[in-house]
Amino acid sequence: MAPPDRYVVIGHPVAHSKSPDIHARFAAQTGQNLNYDRLLAPQDGFVETVRAFIAKGGKGANVTVPFKLEAYAFATELTARAQAAGAVNTLKFDGDKILGDNTDGVGLVSDIVRNAGVGITGKRVLLLGAGGAARGVILPLLNVRPNELIIANRTVSKAEQLAQPFRQQFVDQVSVKTSEFANLQGAFDIIINATSASLSHEVPPLPHSLITERTFAYDMMYGRQPTVFMQFAAKHGATVRDGLGMLVEQAAESFFVWRGVRPQTNAVFSELRKQLS
Ligand code: ATR
Repeated sequence: MAPPDRYVVIGHPVAHSKSPDIHARFAAQTGQNLNYDRLLAPQDGFVETVRAFIAKGGKGANVTVPFKLEAYAFATELTARAQAAGAVNTLKFDGDKILGDNTDGVGLVSDIVRNAGVGITGKRVLLLGAGGAARGVILPLLNVRPNELIIANRTVSKAEQLAQPFRQQFVDQVSVKTSEFANLQGAFDIIINATSASLSHEVPPLPHSLITERTFAYDMMYGRQPTVFMQFAAKHGATVRDGLGMLVEQAAESFFVWRGVRPQTNAVFSELRKQLS
């Protein structure tokens, strides 16, 4: 048999990454002949590390903190969703060509629509945050045509900057607005937390009236326990979900980009959830 094709997740740190486990399960399930390892790059050595990996025959890589912007700059071709995200989490090497893609947003949308069974089309959607995590998901969210997308951030000027190009692209199709947290009004169908507030166990100061028992609240973070944002939303009646499914779905999309085969995600998701508990 031919030697397995080689893939890695590149980051700093990278020891915590669940991607090798996820992709090993996808490979076993689909019968794809590949190896997937962790690759620690020095903080100032991303490009050298990737070049060395390519020279050894590497076929592709996932890119994680803090290199997603460098990967964006390094790619020779970018998908539309990577361009919109301004960041790359998936590289595919093909001769001299280095394709940069971003599968985070599609991963989020798949997890909400397919796994949670919550439609986004025609809905009133609130996205919290205006950093890299928020930017990465806006195009895939708009592509499924919510009725309205409001981007709210502590620093509203950053939300405005982020919204501007999408507002032009989706003019007459989706209403794209921005807001401060305190000025938000009316109930939302879907609230997505893309701030890093959960890391410091903080919740963006949202008016309670945004959340009803018909609200679906999603935190892109995940952990052993529900995040403080999920606890807050659940207390006010929302159905809640954490970002573990997004992690698995973005991996499945990367796998598809590399191999042209779409793995099943349910069993892998259940296994990871079990490992967390
Ligand atoms: P990431 O790549 O995770 O998006 P980032 O680019 O540093 O990280 O962005 C962090 C986001 O979380 C920002 O939207 C930030 O708000 P500001 O732009 O006002 O800084 C938001 N954030 C971080 N801590 C927060 C908190 N305690 N409450 C509300 N928003 C917070």
